[in-house]
Amino acid sequence: MLVGQRIKEYFFQERLGSGSFGEVWLVKNTKTGDYAAMKLFDSYNENAISDYESEVNAYKVLSNRPGCDPYIVCMYNNGSFDRYYYIVQELMSGDLGDFSEGTKSKYRIQNALSLLLLMYQSAEGLRHIHESGMVHSDIKPWNILYHVPEVNALDASYFNNPENMRYNICIKYGDPGLACTLPREKGKSHTVSPDRGSFGESQNCIVPGTQRSSHVPGLQGVSTCVFGGTQDYMAPEFYSAGVGKSNYPNTLEAFQANDIWGLGLVFRAIIEGWKRIQGFNFIRNQGEIPPVHFISGDPFLDEAINDIINMGMVVYDYKLRLTAAELVVYINDVLEKALEMVEEDLSSNLTELPPFVENK
Ligand SMILES: Nc1ncnc2c1ncn2[C@@H]1O[C@H](COP(=O)(O)OP(=O)(O)O)[C@@H](O)[C@H]1O
Ligand SMILES: [Mg+2]
Repeated sequence: MLVGQRIKEYFFQERLGSGSFGEVWLVKNTKTGDYAAMKLFDSYNENAISDYESEVNAYKVLSNRPGCDPYIVCMYNNGSFDRYYYIVQELMSGDLGDFSEGTKSKYRIQNALSLLLLMYQSAEGLRHIHESGMVHSDIKPWNILYHVPEVNALDASYFNNPENMRYNICIKYGDPGLACTLPREKGKSHTVSPDRGSFGESQNCIVPGTQRSSHVPGLQGVSTCVFGGTQDYMAPEFYSAGVGKSNYPNTLEAFQANDIWGLGLVFRAIIEGWKRIQGFNFIRNQGEIPPVHFISGDPFLDEAINDIINMGMVVYDYKLRLTAAELVVYINDVLEKALEMVEEDLSSNLTELPPFVENK
């Protein structure tokens, strides 16, 4: 147990998560009084050091330009101490696993507008990764984190309020341990274009004291993409074809399309629970994929959400999947239309109000 111990100025408070190569801890910086998350890689584990190095190199590209990207967990610091290698990160409030247990979810999302706003931010984050010339390679609910300004007394209604989803909740990508690129990209320069839509990046998603920049640092240190990821979230052309580990499509576009498939399954997990998507990596044609059926009672948004996932993301032929940039634009259009409809509804209600009679 590390509680009460420290590495440099960071005091260990409680364990936030554990994974393949170590643990993630809530730490308090005794110099500043701020809280952060520290991911530990125990060098007693084989591969821990190379994993640490690839994660640090990925963070340097994705969230270090020169401040932090609003859609990627911020890396504050990294180093080694004793037998541990560590990455100090922006403290997040939880991961999308909290929404992905189906009816048993900690916070179940049933409001269509909230879900679509969550999808919007998730799509923007993936666009930032892809436009950087990178691939995440391990998209799953537990690697996409969220931040809320207040964690006390939260309940599902907080997340089902679209105002909160739009202005208070930030969705950011974490765990870029498998993030990668292809050799051809390493010599190119990459820029991330400013927001494609207007529903993301609320002020509190930006880490204070950091500054955004569209310039992406060189990718030289980034790992080269190979077969890997979490089985359930791997696309069929990648998992099944790649079982021999060599005949998966080996282009940047194909690896990025694998991320889109994974994100489609994350959205399905939020709607149906993660158990329902198990085995999708084995399917052999579109007909074997049962379409998702989100029903909230808002026919326009329900249909849009189902179409995006069924026809744009969880699509057998990887060449027919939307790119992250297309996904952002598409969701943005739906959101704009939905908000217009809400306003029309409001104004038609207003005209039905009884005429105002002034008191004499
Ligand atoms: N910055 C953070 N803030 C809060 N919780 C975090 C943070 N980073 C990770 N976690 C929690 O710890 C878990 C494991 O972290 P992750 O980086 O995904 O490690 P692994 O490589 O072992 O999967 C995450 O799923 C999440 O619940
Ligand atoms: Mg993880």
